Amino acid sequence: MKHLLPALSFALATMMSLAARAAEPVKIDIQVDKPGPVIARQIYGQFAEHLGAGIYGGLWVGLDAKTPNVRGWRSDVVGALKALKVPVLRWPGGCFADEYHWRDGIGPQGQRPPRVNTSWGGVIEPNAVGTHEFMDLAEQLGTEVYINANLGSGTVQEMAEWLEYLTAEGDTALARQRRANGREQPWKVQYWGIGNESWGCGGHMKPTYYADLYKHWSTFAKAPRGNRPKLVASGGQELELNWVETLSAEIKQRMDAVTHHQYSLPTRDWKKKGSAVAFPESEWISTLAVPQVIDGYLAKHREILDRNDPAKKLAIYFDEWGSWYDPEPGTDPGFLVQRNTLRDAVLAALHFHVFHRHAERVKMANIAQMVNVLQALVITDKERMVLTPTYHSFAMHLPFMDATSLPVQLAGVPNYSLGQHSIPALSASAAKGANGKLLLSLTNTNPNQDLPLQLAVGGKGVRAVSGQLLTAAAMDAENRFDAPERVKPQPFQAQAKDGRLALTLPAKSVLVVEVQP
Ligand code: AHR
Repeated sequence: MKHLLPALSFALATMMSLAARAAEPVKIDIQVDKPGPVIARQIYGQFAEHLGAGIYGGLWVGLDAKTPNVRGWRSDVVGALKALKVPVLRWPGGCFADEYHWRDGIGPQGQRPPRVNTSWGGVIEPNAVGTHEFMDLAEQLGTEVYINANLGSGTVQEMAEWLEYLTAEGDTALARQRRANGREQPWKVQYWGIGNESWGCGGHMKPTYYADLYKHWSTFAKAPRGNRPKLVASGGQELELNWVETLSAEIKQRMDAVTHHQYSLPTRDWKKKGSAVAFPESEWISTLAVPQVIDGYLAKHREILDRNDPAKKLAIYFDEWGSWYDPEPGTDPGFLVQRNTLRDAVLAALHFHVFHRHAERVKMANIAQMVNVLQALVITDKERMVLTPTYHSFAMHLPFMDATSLPVQLAGVPNYSLGQHSIPALSASAAKGANGKLLLSLTNTNPNQDLPLQLAVGGKGVRAVSGQLLTAAAMDAENRFDAPERVKPQPFQAQAKDGRLALTLPAKSVLVVEVQP
């Protein structure tokens, strides 16, 4: 027994020091005197594709529907999205964009040709939603538009004429046709994508081949002065860097941005991605580990761009991101229906932090997708609608639109580890809002442990914080039609005592506060 005593006391001392360390608050210091780039509001952008109930049923109910609507767009969903101040909306795809022929979607509704949506479920695409309807939705939402043209199966003339139809001012044949279809004034088109995922569903091309095509097509993407959209080249996905490398080296004009796509799959296995609900903790951490990976390769993207575009004219548009789980049982797998839980809200906040960190180059991001598809903000079922935890994460971050990013110094952040994954338990992002307020967004990625924090601004104490906290009892808590407010932001406040502001960030949570120095 005697010889065990030193070992026991050593173990006890280690346990005590671990406990002391666990209770030690993480120190957060917002570096107000080192302002970074402005966080483009467009990083809170969205994406609506002709896919499943993403448009038809979820947003568009048609002119004769009983569901309350404005010119065919359902009022409840549009109302909810308006509250998010959608900065930019990408349409009509995705893979669908490379099989979409815009002339199918103009003219009298009853005379539009039905087509097969070969990308998504092989269902009939009625073409009830076309250019005029989409631009009306954008006007109802008050959002900028990002139209993705068809490089895959269209022609350069078809693309050029679509842009002319949208933007022509004078008395041209295409402007007359637009007017005859009910739109007198040209529309504003802010962003124009040329192809989508050209390495895959958009044509299985090599980046060098696409670069040549892009140079050819972008030459003919013309619009009147003052209404020229930013031209967007379709880039790579996941960890590959050869697309951004090739495009930024090869294309020296008429390119404002290169896109990138990355989805978060719990298992990283496209054949068995993992469940949206009732998932094990191992899939909570593996999903939340993805933004850290994105953070790493965005840094590499920026190195490439800094070399090929030192004048920093080119932006990165991260125009598809979000969770991608196995489809909801009982639904058509081609419709990409999935449920949305607290995990998705935390995942969204982690993405925002990454985009804020790379705000110098990342000027747009679009969650996939807006309604009923993948990591949706709104889910509908016939007349009913529910706002997802992801919706609330977006709503909480509204003040970060057009804010000036501020570095955050963190000390003592523990890792949250499970199996092969280990990620920081705390992620933080700070900014000075467009209204001058100091903003802080935090996530506790650990689903089991609250995190004590101590907050400072420029090394000095903070008086108070107030804002909103999003958390729930379970990792997979979700809002259902019969319980729509299970995951909802709650007011949060904390005040300094003795000149120090200490607070506790609950396990598995997102917190956004205004900080009063
Ligand atoms: O968002 C769903 C699909 O994912 C898009 O159509 C495509 O671009 C991507 O592969």
